[in-house]
Amino acid sequence: MLEHRYEILVNRTHRLPEHYRPTALLEPAVPFAAGPRDPKRLLEPKAARAVQALFSHIAEVHGLYLYGISGFRSYERQKELFARNPQSCYVAPPGTSEHQTGLALDVSCPSVGLELVDSFAVTPEGCCLARHAPLYGFILRYPKGKEQITGYQWEPWHIRYVTRPLALYLDATGLTLEEYHALGDSEPCRTTHTNLEQLHASAAAPEPCRTTHTDPEQLHASATAPSASTAPSGVP
Ligand code: DAL
Ligand code: ZN
Repeated sequence: MLEHRYEILVNRTHRLPEHYRPTALLEPAVPFAAGPRDPKRLLEPKAARAVQALFSHIAEVHGLYLYGISGFRSYERQKELFARNPQSCYVAPPGTSEHQTGLALDVSCPSVGLELVDSFAVTPEGCCLARHAPLYGFILRYPKGKEQITGYQWEPWHIRYVTRPLALYLDATGLTLEEYHALGDSEPCRTTHTNLEQLHASAAAPEPCRTTHTDPEQLHASATAPSASTAPSGVP
């Protein structure tokens, strides 16, 4: 069952079916920029519980407050965003965003205006997120320096639930999800160093975006409501 395959790879070349929707979605008890009943507040149940534990730990132990920006994104929503921004390589064609699995969440904090920006990475909140995410089963899905492999620009705000053992493994090895899936195809225990490098190259996804980065939802928001480039409505 797709919803239990927490290691699932979704990218420009691994699409989800049009009618795929997680069988269950729920709202984690964490602060969200989006208003009540917005589907951006939804996540797959195990991912929702894990993000709740992650944010709680960071708040209680480190006194830092993270906000959810965008979680679940339906196929229909991706279609809408793509139709409005067909030229932007930040807007994934329908079925190619892992937000459709309910396992991905974009995260930000008040000191960067709840925006999805590179500078989030150097905030105390962004650093703390990067350090603790694997312990709670999340990876930073689009790391710096791996753009050719993931097919996307560095996104220090996009976390993806893959389960704790896999997140710890990927964090320790520095592998992306693309590289991990390629290893599975290639019997990694018997590969040589050279083969691993070849593997690394063969895991390459299509060309990454080179435009200035903008989250599809934010791009959509700024195209229709310029004032939305500051803190989204509903945020204190
Ligand atoms: N920004 C990521 C790649 C997404 O839209 O799924
Ligand atoms: Zn995202």
